[in-house]
Amino acid sequence: MKTFVKNMLSENQVDRLRDARLMFRESRAVRMATSAQTGGLRVASSARPLSTAYYALLSRQFQREERAVLAGLAKYHAELQEDDANVFLMRRNVHRLEKGLSMRPRRPVFAKDYILETVNVYRKVVDAPERSAESSAESLHWAYDVLSEYFRVVAADPVLDHAREVFDKCPTPTGSGEAGERIPYKRNLDEHPVSFEQLEKLSIKRRSVRWFEQKPVPRDLLDKAFGIASLSPSACNRQPFRFIVFDDPEMIATAASLPGGTIGWKHQIPVMVAIIGSLDAFYSEKDRHVIYIDGALAAMSFSYALETLGLSSCICNWPDIESHERRAEKVLGLESYERPVMFMAVGYPDPDATVAYSQKRPLEVMRTYNPPLNNA
Ligand SMILES: Cc1cc2nc3c(=O)[nH]c(=O)nc-3n(C[C@H](O)[C@H](O)[C@H](O)COP(=O)(O)O)c2cc1C
Repeated sequence: MKTFVKNMLSENQVDRLRDARLMFRESRAVRMATSAQTGGLRVASSARPLSTAYYALLSRQFQREERAVLAGLAKYHAELQEDDANVFLMRRNVHRLEKGLSMRPRRPVFAKDYILETVNVYRKVVDAPERSAESSAESLHWAYDVLSEYFRVVAADPVLDHAREVFDKCPTPTGSGEAGERIPYKRNLDEHPVSFEQLEKLSIKRRSVRWFEQKPVPRDLLDKAFGIASLSPSACNRQPFRFIVFDDPEMIATAASLPGGTIGWKHQIPVMVAIIGSLDAFYSEKDRHVIYIDGALAAMSFSYALETLGLSSCICNWPDIESHERRAEKVLGLESYERPVMFMAVGYPDPDATVAYSQKRPLEVMRTYNPPLNNA
């Protein structure tokens, strides 16, 4: 509608319309309506049944998220029952075994309630790796090595012994297993790859860059930075996200116009990255925020890695707006259980452009040590 009106009117008329709207916003009638709305929000938020009624009857803001979360749960649980293997389940359970192996003191019997599930999902993946693009040789070797170590150290127990029998019949993964055993290990603490001062300099140098040199970005540099992003922490090591990259000029034009925050500078973005979260990684709604947390941690590492390679970036917000979501779903071909976490513009920084100073909040405001606790 907005675009239609804009196309019908002259620039001057659009400006006058915008001014009138701004003046109207300051009017008494609007102020009264706003204060009534604030009162309504206060009432709706005062008790849980009221907030439930508010979002069931008066606002549809959470509906898309609810549907995507449900679609993810449906896929996850269907895969458990059917013969499809959920790689996220394998990753999570193998990681739980890693933690059990590293526990101090280590218990003689652990993971009793999920070891059979883990062996079964591993069996499904290793039996037919072609069914899942995720079942890379590296991940399978990791799962195999951790399971082997687990069965080597745990004590005799009927449940564990049965799981061991199933595991012993599983094929061993093929291909790139030359990295050595992928089991818990002691880090070399004498190594200090980056000093605090170097990290501080990098953090100060990294700024959100919105103006770029008009030259292509080599994919091997991008892939190096994605490699660093993939080393970021992730809840239970599931890594429930993927990166979609656009470096084709025509495609960037479309991709860069998906998020609203690129207005005014989208025409010169050399690479656009969409970080997409996968809600089929979770068995319960309680983990629905993990795609945003893990996606953001990976984005931060990606951004720092880019800086070390002479590249810069700017994160572009993805507010939950129905029309934007529908467009992104269609344009990017997303599944019903996938949601954009954020977009990132990437390129060689234009040396003649300025960046915002963006003063950070003071440490004393952001950080508190040992605040008084209330008894639970
Ligand atoms: C979640 C998130 C969303 C952002 N969205 C936008 C955006 O839509 N458009 C934009 O120009 N900058 C965006 N930014 C960049 C911020 O404006 C920027 O990070 C902030 O002002 C601090 O500046 P700095 O990154 O240079 O330290 C976003 C940053 C984050 C973390």
